[in-house]
Amino acid sequence: MAATRDTGLDDSFYQPADEFFPANHKIGLTFDDLTLATLYSEILPRDTQLDTTLAENLRLNIPVISSDMDTVTESRMAIALALNGGLGLIHYNMPERQQLSEVSRVKFHVHGMIQEPIKALPEQHIGDVLKMIEERKFSFSTFPVVDEKGKLVGLLSGHVVKPRYAKRKVAEALTPRAQVHTLNKKELGKDPIARADKFFNEHLGIHKLLVVDDKDHLHGLITLSDIERLAAERNAQFKPARDASFRLICGAAVSATRNAFGELDRERILTHVGGLVERGVDAVAVSTAHGHSKGVGNTVKVLRDAFPKLPLIAGNVTSAAGAEYLADCGANAVKVGQGPGSICTTRNVAGVGIPQMTALYVCSRAAAKKKVAILADGGIAKSGDIVKALTLAQAVICGGIFAGCNEAPGEILEIGGKLYKQYRGMGSFAAMKAGSAARYGQPTNPTQKVAAEGIEALKEACGSVDRVLAQLIGGIQSGMGYLGAANLAQLRDKARYIRVSPAGMREAAPHDVVELKTGN
Ligand code: XMP
Repeated sequence: MAATRDTGLDDSFYQPADEFFPANHKIGLTFDDLTLATLYSEILPRDTQLDTTLAENLRLNIPVISSDMDTVTESRMAIALALNGGLGLIHYNMPERQQLSEVSRVKFHVHGMIQEPIKALPEQHIGDVLKMIEERKFSFSTFPVVDEKGKLVGLLSGHVVKPRYAKRKVAEALTPRAQVHTLNKKELGKDPIARADKFFNEHLGIHKLLVVDDKDHLHGLITLSDIERLAAERNAQFKPARDASFRLICGAAVSATRNAFGELDRERILTHVGGLVERGVDAVAVSTAHGHSKGVGNTVKVLRDAFPKLPLIAGNVTSAAGAEYLADCGANAVKVGQGPGSICTTRNVAGVGIPQMTALYVCSRAAAKKKVAILADGGIAKSGDIVKALTLAQAVICGGIFAGCNEAPGEILEIGGKLYKQYRGMGSFAAMKAGSAARYGQPTNPTQKVAAEGIEALKEACGSVDRVLAQLIGGIQSGMGYLGAANLAQLRDKARYIRVSPAGMREAAPHDVVELKTGN
């Protein structure tokens, strides 16, 4: 039989984690400091499974989470992540009330239903509608028409949204309410896509279905083309991450909030997290720069006592003691990373932090003892980094990779003919002023002196989350194929590492060519 393994020679060069990291214990290593060795494989990348368990009742279909940062994750990003099988953590740099409604938006998101369709008002002119289409660059021209209270009065069909009717009122041109096809939102049931699909089958030639409540207030719009696209997606390899009631999953971050006396504000934390739980939040992350601290530990304990079944994520730490401490306090998953992030300056400002692969190794061994998951948070610039992180962690948390996506908060800016989106550290002056100072243990009063631990930056606009994730997932699956790993547990088991020299690092990137096109 042909040899599939040379245990002697290979093993002396390419070492498993428990030999490699202890052998390099005098130096902190990050992603580019090491590479993974290939192994005999019978696994095709497309056949690999990426599902991961972060807590008994928190399972993802892909091991990717978007950061709780105010330029990364609000409801649109969380919806996009969950639709792809991952999880978004809604940031807390906003009033608590607003965070509750961001979570609600994700939980009420009916895949395939446009929840806040653009509407027209009966007293508008068709000319106003044409102007709105032009200004906001809509690619559609059919609009539900509602009165000032949001009650449905009809549908303005694209056939009449023409310059020749510009002076006509919407009220004259609309298809009246009685002739508009609607479903009550209660009728959507557990599988709204199947229900809408059935409706379109039964109603030949109808392309739009409006969703209303008992008072006939408009709640959404479902289009035939979206339903057809979704039916195709059902055969996709990675299904959306949903809860037991078929709703998309959503996480939210909180801080270890203190009261005016500097004590942990238990009541406020419990009231807010109670609100999140009522809205169906699937995980709460106690998210701070220094997780191995009394305030964070006590917050986790308070939440664990009050919500025994709620998946809790806590961090950030980079030591075994830190990971064990948070696990003992009740966390199900521990965030690992201090200073690796693309916008972080903690290592420069505070002189503190550990290169990410070493931190992940140390924390992963402590977490395994305590039977909790670890999340590799920050510093991920390419899919190869994710593969390396997943040899030690159960999932990765990414900020910068998603900050240029359409679904990230903020407008697209045009600078010198290129398109960008703003991306800032939660420890930057601007973000701390907007509320995140507590995360860095800095005074929340903006007039006091604070030390920023993050920068404000730009990311090139990079299209949809779907597109970015397709590239990342392709890379993860490719890495698993090279290691003969059919799933993430096998990837963790099989990984073998070797240090890379600076010349080896240069060799890894395109070199000695004039690059015409990047990989994507
Ligand atoms: P990436 O590399 O994905 O990193 O952009 C995102 C992660 O960085 C952390 N974060 C910060 N760390 N100062 C820091 O030292 C900051 O201002 C800051 N803001 C975010 C956070 O863990 C995030 O997920």
